Amino acid sequence: MPRLVRFSSAAPIKIDPATWPRDEQGNLKVLSICGCGISAKFPFCDGAHKACKAEDAGCTYTYDIPTRTVQSVTPGTGDVPATDGQREG
Ligand code: FES
Repeated sequence: MPRLVRFSSAAPIKIDPATWPRDEQGNLKVLSICGCGISAKFPFCDGAHKACKAEDAGCTYTYDIPTRTVQSVTPGTGDVPATDGQREG
């Protein structure tokens, strides 16, 4: 179930540890980083990945990020190299 995600930023996303949520004892809480690519709060997970659970493993999906709706479904995966979350470059 590959997904096409369009990035328009040419700059890094900075995460300031001083702003990380903490528990009652002041310990840093676990942060979930988006691995599906459709979070509206990218790079953080916002639960949008639930929309990906119904994807067919044999198709490529293109999402509209603001609405988290599927724009197109293309059968097959031959033109999209599998990266398993790794980015090239
Ligand atoms: S992993 Fe992407 S929104 Fe949760």
